[in-house]
Amino acid sequence: MKDKELLFKLWIGALAGGLILLAIANYKVNFYGNSRLLPVSLGILTAATFILGIYFQKVRYIMHGAAFMIIVAAAFAGFANWLPQTIGEPPALEEAIDDISTMSPQELADVGEKLIFGAVGGSTVKGAEGKAKCSLCHVFGASDHGERAPNLFGLPGRSSEIVQLDSYKNRDTVQTVAFEGSGIAETAIEYMAESHACPNCYVTPGFGKGGSNDRESPMPAVHKSPINLTIDEMVAVDAWMYVREGLDLPSVDEMRAAYEKFIPEDERPQATAGDGEAGGGDNPLLTTGDETLPEIFEKAQCSLCHVIPGIPGADEGDFGPELYVKSNASKRMKDKGYAGSASSVQEYILESIMNPNLYIVPEFDEDLMPDDFGTTLNAKTLYRIVNYLSKIEKGKDPPNYEEM
Ligand code: HEC
Ligand code: HEC
Repeated sequence: MKDKELLFKLWIGALAGGLILLAIANYKVNFYGNSRLLPVSLGILTAATFILGIYFQKVRYIMHGAAFMIIVAAAFAGFANWLPQTIGEPPALEEAIDDISTMSPQELADVGEKLIFGAVGGSTVKGAEGKAKCSLCHVFGASDHGERAPNLFGLPGRSSEIVQLDSYKNRDTVQTVAFEGSGIAETAIEYMAESHACPNCYVTPGFGKGGSNDRESPMPAVHKSPINLTIDEMVAVDAWMYVREGLDLPSVDEMRAAYEKFIPEDERPQATAGDGEAGGGDNPLLTTGDETLPEIFEKAQCSLCHVIPGIPGADEGDFGPELYVKSNASKRMKDKGYAGSASSVQEYILESIMNPNLYIVPEFDEDLMPDDFGTTLNAKTLYRIVNYLSKIEKGKDPPNYEEM
């Protein structure tokens, strides 16, 4: 009899032990998986403790007490675990914009403000800049003074006047129509669309490319690289300019049609999921550093403003000096007005990128070059930029970017 009882208790002990191991195993497997199966371990543990409590009389009260504690713990843990998990989820990637035809004018304007300034409300933040990059060159406030590009306050109103001007209708620019047969703008929204899609078509007097006698614009077409806005995004940008001045917005169809008038079908950029890859969403980085050098200079927008010898696609920038830095750096560092601390070409370049207003190259505008490259370019990108620029010398062949 004694033997039988001992054997029975051994079996029960083994069963309870097995259950405890099972509970531990389940706990381990599911602990890191953010799984909701964790409370199962506590359930198994409770069952094991109860079984032990029933058959091992001497420890019965302790075991039942322990089981009760585990049930309470399980109830709490289970409750917390089964709650919807809201914290710690990765932020949603920047999506392509929704169907704009169902948005209210204010919603559409908010999308536009986000594109220009990076956030709703961004228009009140100094230096704010979004995917559309307009604020790199343009000012938007009623009393701001546009140094190198027209102030865009009042644009919808003055656009309807500009399209009536003889100087607008009889333009004499390097490219007089957006494409063969496109015609010119007849309404305010068409003028805005033409300005974005074909900056050369009409150049605001006094703002043309240096030496072009206002026949050529320094503004990039915004549906093309590096800005690449889709038609719907450009519509949203325009919507913000109307709505913030309290003006009635043309219909979305009318605005889309204005862009379709000036952008041929095969040039219309499509919204792509990859848009948020660099420079989108919550990631401020413009580049990964693994791109080719021409891609780096394009994505970092250096080529919007600078001619960079030897880099394809960087031969138009007119807002900053041509980057013959190896020839110019020592001149700059010796200048009376130089307040920086660089003592080599490389240091001078890095300083110019990180802190552009420390020294202003004579005859160029202060406050034009963005001063946030320290947060938008990573170390690998900066290294490759400095390495390339430090080898550009006037009168010599530019370095071979393909090997750098
Ligand atoms: C690299 C600098 C630069 C960037 C970036 C830029 N622009 Fe311009 N923009 C200019 C300059 C310079 C002019 C004046 C020459 C001309 O009329 O083309 C201009 C002209 C314009 C005009 C015509 C203004 C008028 O008073 O008639 C509009 C509209 C305009 N830009 C809108 C935009 C928008 C919207 C964006 C962003 C999506 C943008 N620009 C990005 C430099 C820039
Ligand atoms: C919106 C226009 C703009 C953009 C974008 C821009 N720059 Fe500039 N940059 C300027 C202007 C204007 C100056 C001259 C005024 C000054 O010294 O700040 C300048 C000056 C410089 C200088 C000093 C040149 C010299 O001859 O001494 C360097 C180097 C330079 N930029 C590099 C870059 C690089 C690299 C990028 C991209 C990562 C870049 N810039 C983007 C406008 C721009």
